[in-house]
Amino acid sequence: MDKLRIGIIGFGTVGKGVYQILMGDKDTHPILKQIEIANIVVKNIHKKREVNIEKNLLINDPNKLIDDPFIDVIVEVMGGTDIAKDIILKSLRNGKSVVTANKAVMARYGEEIHKVASENGAYILFEAAVCGGIPIIEPLKRSLKSNQIIKMAGIINGTTNFILSKMSTEKAAFKESLELAQKLGYAELDPSADVEGQDAADKISILSELAFGGKIDRNKIDTEGINKIDLKDIEYAEKLGFEIKLLAVSERNKDNNINNSLPLNIWVGPTLIPKSHPLSTIEGVNNAILVEGDPIGEIMLYGPGAGSGPTASSVVSDILSLKALSIKKNISKDRVIDPLLSFNFWRKCHVINSEQIRKKNYLRIICEDTPGVIGKIGYIFGNNDVSIESIIQLDARENEAEIVVITHHVPKGNIDISKNQLNALPEVKFIAAQLNCI
Ligand SMILES: NC(=O)c1ccc[n+]([C@@H]2O[C@H](COP(=O)([O-])OP(=O)(O)OC[C@H]3O[C@@H](n4cnc5c(N)ncnc54)[C@H](OP(=O)(O)O)[C@@H]3O)[C@@H](O)[C@H]2O)c1
Repeated sequence: MDKLRIGIIGFGTVGKGVYQILMGDKDTHPILKQIEIANIVVKNIHKKREVNIEKNLLINDPNKLIDDPFIDVIVEVMGGTDIAKDIILKSLRNGKSVVTANKAVMARYGEEIHKVASENGAYILFEAAVCGGIPIIEPLKRSLKSNQIIKMAGIINGTTNFILSKMSTEKAAFKESLELAQKLGYAELDPSADVEGQDAADKISILSELAFGGKIDRNKIDTEGINKIDLKDIEYAEKLGFEIKLLAVSERNKDNNINNSLPLNIWVGPTLIPKSHPLSTIEGVNNAILVEGDPIGEIMLYGPGAGSGPTASSVVSDILSLKALSIKKNISKDRVIDPLLSFNFWRKCHVINSEQIRKKNYLRIICEDTPGVIGKIGYIFGNNDVSIESIIQLDARENEAEIVVITHHVPKGNIDISKNQLNALPEVKFIAAQLNCI
């Protein structure tokens, strides 16, 4: 039986995990023995490696693999956007299938990549790009395809969930929790993509394309991170029966069907989740995603969302799927080989303006501790069609009061107008926090 020859680009956290699975002696599926690593590309071939690896396996020119006619599959696990995108596109144009863990590239250039793959009779598989070890891409592409997907809501960034879990269980401040995450290898030296919510936005964009079957304009996703979360809000959320998590949501919006285009509410932001809700129990670096479909109802996928082994598990499973497909000699030029993914079958989708998205809100308002202030705040919200679920004073000292308001579902635009008017009240010092609620 012909072996599948692969070229791996990247030997960092994920690349090492892939190598260890492929070279390991575990009693995995017999097909694993049919994969052969041609070379592994790294940036610095002289770098000391933690994993024992044959020195002549490492090279530093990706083109040697991309242009080699005897390589069947390129495994892109180096990260970044521009160089990685070029490597993926060039490999596909050379008729090689590609396995990637790169969410940043798939979220920004997914449509172009699918098109080039389809035109060149090659596959692009990216299970590891979202939620690391949790199978979510293949379920959306195949196992759940007979459903009309209504909504997805998930905790899909392990770094921020680790930080929020630390803040909640140990009452550690954001900075301290981030430093611990960096020390343990859960956060990068530059953590901005994680803590500002951009990584989660990349992932929900990819999932939305698969779930709803159309291109998503990634830049229109309303995205907020966790870097402004104060311990006070964690404490108040707890008192009120919630946990704060960075939630990514994508759902059909029934109100705005414009020009035969499917309207979607897609957003990422810190959110108060009732303690009775399954997503509130997700701790540490774990991820979980709820998918609601018709007729299936609701399912939840849960597990390790990152890390060497879990992410490599998804990468290697994709490589094995390609081996299984090539055994059946399915790979041929000039035909659509992954019809469920082909851009030819995509519909029009649009992300609705964040001002129109209806959400429940949590606001913490710092004001003077004077009689009648709660009435004035309630009046402003009422005047702007913002109905209030609860309004409570949770702390008062030295003539200063902290008032927490939880609203019903209202458009973000109405909240923004209310906030401007509240800030103009002489009794209101400032609005210390605005978070989402479910
Ligand atoms: N880490 C995770 O848990 C995880 C989970 C899901 C998805 N992912 C995705 O997987 C990808 C890889 O992540 P990672 O954490 O494994 O990254 P990483 O640890 O930083 O490793 C990157 C690897 O790529 C090599 N590399 C970087 N730039 C290169 C270039 N220009 N030319 C050749 N080689 C280059 C590096 O070489 P040197 O070793 O010589 O520096 C290194 O071996 C990213 O897209 C990431 O988003 C990661």
